Amino acid sequence: MKALVLAGGRGTRLRPLTHTAAKQLVPVANRPILFYVLDNLAQAGIKEVGIIVSPETQKAIREAVGDGGRWGFRAEYLFQEEPLGLAHAVKVARVFLGESPFVMYLGDNLIGSGIREYCEAFRAAKTDALILLKQVEDPTSFGVVELDGNGRVLSLVEKPKHPKSDLALVGIYFFSPKVHRAIEEIRPSWRGELEITDAIQRLVENHGEVAGYILKEWWIDTGKKDDLLAANTLVLDEWIARQIDGDIDSASQVMGRVVIGKESRVQASTVRGPVVIGERVVIRDSFIGPFTTIGNGSQIVHSVIEHSVILEGVLIENVDRLEDSLIGNGAKIFKDQATRQAYRLLLGDDSVVEL
Ligand code: TTP
Repeated sequence: MKALVLAGGRGTRLRPLTHTAAKQLVPVANRPILFYVLDNLAQAGIKEVGIIVSPETQKAIREAVGDGGRWGFRAEYLFQEEPLGLAHAVKVARVFLGESPFVMYLGDNLIGSGIREYCEAFRAAKTDALILLKQVEDPTSFGVVELDGNGRVLSLVEKPKHPKSDLALVGIYFFSPKVHRAIEEIRPSWRGELEITDAIQRLVENHGEVAGYILKEWWIDTGKKDDLLAANTLVLDEWIARQIDGDIDSASQVMGRVVIGKESRVQASTVRGPVVIGERVVIRDSFIGPFTTIGNGSQIVHSVIEHSVILEGVLIENVDRLEDSLIGNGAKIFKDQATRQAYRLLLGDDSVVEL
């Protein structure tokens, strides 16, 4: 089986961060989201991975992933000039995919488990497609699937006004080469995209068999700031063990599951886990609260930060309380004097904010 990873697109919902960075490379617990995707493919034994990239993402994604050797697979880059839809991305990958069955994995989706079990279910079921589903509270903003009593897909509707179930389509799909014919038969939707939901619906209409499999663990599509923070919270909560490689002075307290990278220093501060602090970070006279990630080379001075993702080389000084925030590389946030106020920010790379 081959894999097709979608790491193109424009990432408009994460602007301004995505003006300079690919959203698939935004870190969760200090690792790019895409790396969790690639780990899952490697664990499932996949050896050939096609990665869809766009003009906006291609340079950064190539630099981060290279030839895939680190994961034990071969990565091939497939250039999609414009984000014309998930089914369009499959078309772009047509030569790479050949007649192989494949798993298509959206490069900004995180799930709370591996995918090996689902690969095996697809191989065993011998259906034309197997799609992963998850119950959601408000199905009207997702692709929604109706199943029969045997787990076969009866219908799919993109963002329905009157959903027939609460089962949303997760961004991981298994396809036989039959999907290519279905894609040839569909037309762009009202938003001008070739929709993968339309292709799957066409497979069903052509008497193909499509199985729906309900994901056991959590699933997060990290396209927006709050979803990204939720992913950071879950990963810190479930996958982080305490590991201290940096220095903590005697006036500091570091409690719970905290990772502190090499050459980092915690001085006169409190860190309450789960927290991941990268390398060469300075935390001085500050409180770093639960569910926070701080990237390499950042400096936090006389500030309080909770439930936030801080990228690399960031300076935060005299900020009384920063929460639910996503701060881009090299940003500077500072204040002349501390006053009592909480801030929630989404800042792109190299922003400078004087509060
Ligand atoms: P989306 O999140 O639907 O699209 P986007 O990245 O353009 O984001 P936004 O809506 O904020 O502008 O895409 C899901 C994933 O698939 C994401 O990793 C980007 C990727 N993608 C492609 O590679 N090609 C495409 O044509 C589309 C639509 C998405």
